[in-house]
Amino acid sequence: MWDESLFRNPEVFDLSYIPEVFKYRDNELEAISHNVKPLIKGDFPTNTIVLGPTGTGKTTSVKLLFRDIIEVSNSVVPVYINCQFHYREFSIMSQIFKGIFGYPPVETGKPLTTLYEYTMGELQKKDKTLLVALDDVDFLFHVNVAENILYKILRAHETFPGVKTGIIGIVTDNAFSFKVSEKIRTVFMPNEVHFKSYSQSTIKDILRYRSDIGLFPGVMEEEVLDKISEITFEKGDLRLGIRGIKDAAMLAERQGRRKIIVEDVEKAIERISSSLHVENVFDGLSKTDKKVLKVIAENSTKFAKANDFFNLLGEEMSYELFRKSMVKLENLKIVDIQRAQSRGRGKQNLIHLRVPKEALLEIIKE
Ligand SMILES: Nc1ncnc2c1ncn2[C@@H]1O[C@H](COP(=O)(O)OP(=O)(O)O)[C@@H](O)[C@H]1O
Ligand SMILES: [Mg+2]
Repeated sequence: MWDESLFRNPEVFDLSYIPEVFKYRDNELEAISHNVKPLIKGDFPTNTIVLGPTGTGKTTSVKLLFRDIIEVSNSVVPVYINCQFHYREFSIMSQIFKGIFGYPPVETGKPLTTLYEYTMGELQKKDKTLLVALDDVDFLFHVNVAENILYKILRAHETFPGVKTGIIGIVTDNAFSFKVSEKIRTVFMPNEVHFKSYSQSTIKDILRYRSDIGLFPGVMEEEVLDKISEITFEKGDLRLGIRGIKDAAMLAERQGRRKIIVEDVEKAIERISSSLHVENVFDGLSKTDKKVLKVIAENSTKFAKANDFFNLLGEEMSYELFRKSMVKLENLKIVDIQRAQSRGRGKQNLIHLRVPKEALLEIIKE
């Protein structure tokens, strides 16, 4: 019993897993795809803004659409960019460069304009069109670079005649998103596609499918599935249910049981609620960011001063890199930085973790 796994396919519970069966979003996918279609024929597309709460399939839909586009067209270059990680003009332009050339730009310290010219020039030369998905585009508004970037992409044809570009912006519904969508509207007049929250029965259906392909038969019983669907619906994030099944099955496994019980589900979801956010962004962090985060997680009970953490990193990185990482972790809402009011001896920025240390260390360990 002990070494028998309950999983036949654990990776289907990873948040980055793209399911084979993706139902309930046909209308939304159709709407986005309709906007994009002209680009495949070499015309200007309708730009799109995708709006909706977390866990409603926005990111997955756009990724699936991109997969289809690559299959049917050699002339459209789709580039997916997550603005939580890429929120500087240079970094975004580098991602677009990489999408077009297949490799990242060499770091020569060349200015942004040069990178822009290479990138758009290549599109012009090869007669290709560009479709950029800016996921979590609201992050660009936090740092005030949104307009520049949107204009640079959309007005490429003014400097590079013949070049056709389009944007799909993805915005998560929150207090800030209305303002963001208003601002985007003033830059371009996007067509809006709304992803509504899933009903409890839809959630159940999606979770049933995941359990069927991820777990062995009999591990997930109907009443347990009901419970996990109910909690997932109440908390309003499908990702919680998907990851919850995995952890609940692991709990059952550890106790040598062949079935998940309601108690496993409750425990699992309770634990994951606090760490889901980090888990979601962790894969997108650079090696440097991960190093910094590890040192903070391991020592957060001992220190709070930024310099103490920096000193622990020793010779591993420059202060500038450390500072940039800190700001990124702050933007990602993993740490709070309490900034010193004035400069001087002993006056230092203080760093506070916003997620439970144990959960964080577990994710880092994996
Ligand atoms: N209709 C669906 N069918 C199957 N899985 C779905 C569906 N919608 C969302 N998911 C799953 O839920 C999770 C969250 O989806 P995601 O596309 O990241 O949502 P969003 O970008 O809106 O936050 C992913 O693991 C995804 O595979
Ligand atoms: Mg998303």
